[in-house]
Amino acid sequence: MTTTVTCIGTSNHGFAQYAQEEIRRLFPAVAFKLIVPTEIFSFEVPGSWSEVSAALKEQEPIFLRHVQPVQVQWDLTRSDEDIANLKTWLATTGESGFTNPGQFIAVQVRKEEKADVPYAPFTIKAELDTVITSTLQAEPVVKGADRIVSVYISANKLFAGISSPSENLSDWSGGAIRFQKEEDQISRAKFKLLEAEQRFGIDFSYARAALDIGAAPGGWTSLLLERGLRVTAIDPASMHPSLTSNPMLKIYKKNAGDVKLRDNEFDLLVCDMSWSPRQMGRLVADLLYALQSGGTAIITVKLMHKKPFQTIRELIQLFEPSLHLLKAKQLFHNREELTLYLQKL
Ligand SMILES: C[S@@+](CC[C@H](N)C(=O)[O-])C[C@H]1O[C@@H](n2cnc3c(N)ncnc32)[C@H](O)[C@@H]1O
Repeated sequence: MTTTVTCIGTSNHGFAQYAQEEIRRLFPAVAFKLIVPTEIFSFEVPGSWSEVSAALKEQEPIFLRHVQPVQVQWDLTRSDEDIANLKTWLATTGESGFTNPGQFIAVQVRKEEKADVPYAPFTIKAELDTVITSTLQAEPVVKGADRIVSVYISANKLFAGISSPSENLSDWSGGAIRFQKEEDQISRAKFKLLEAEQRFGIDFSYARAALDIGAAPGGWTSLLLERGLRVTAIDPASMHPSLTSNPMLKIYKKNAGDVKLRDNEFDLLVCDMSWSPRQMGRLVADLLYALQSGGTAIITVKLMHKKPFQTIRELIQLFEPSLHLLKAKQLFHNREELTLYLQKL
């Protein structure tokens, strides 16, 4: 008898079909069931969770934001019995080797709006935290967990599983990474670069000089300045007044096609132009002489007419002679976009 594993996959709203396409390429025998249209789905594949999650990590699907294993599932009783069942499951599964005493364990509970249950996610978390402390002799945490207990409550069913944060592809519940909005934050776009920094494990301190193409009003520029980089910002639109007198910032209030830079002047290039991918690609390709060999580039790609895989292929072809793709990922803060992380050869 072949073993199979059931997982719950989450993508950005509207992009589940692309995540499913990528998963099908990895596991041709996969069977999908939609949970939340265009966003959340379960899938069943032959193999164990460790095999499946290893394959997903190795060739990480661009549009799969988060994945969790389903080790147990049942029809909702819509009563405290659901919580009691979950506690029994966690105590026995945890004790059978899925967790170890002293580990940091996070409980992440997601509940669909349509799930008409008399308990709130935080009640489930609080109840499971008591099992973690008293039965498993471990420590409940929110961040920095060794293991994550994921609970998903759909309209009719309850699903749960235990995994490590890296197996889930994100240590945030459902991959929905949240940043605190700062009082003086210039744009929400800053979250995209913050997320890329975390998700791709980028240490900006390696870089000294960054080129920001399509920089206004300056959310990305402000983050790079905060990280101690010198920044050259190009945009025909105005940068935020709080930035304009910063001595570490040089501004070209111009179209990127009209700027002349020095060869190898930068070790980081970022571009968040929200423009047609083809035109953006040509503009960036024409400025690549200013990026040093070994320097990196972070570029958002607007998915205008969908067909995302074709768009990515065309852009990579355009950049390929000089840039090598390190990672392509649709981030939580990308809406109709995805983010490319590349390195100059
Ligand atoms: C989404 S906004 C950038 C937001 C910015 N990353 C931030 O964090 O505030 C896109 C910007 O690209 C600029 N842009 C569009 N076409 C451009 C071009 N050809 N050259 C330079 N900038 C361009 C627009 O003026 C706009 O300010």
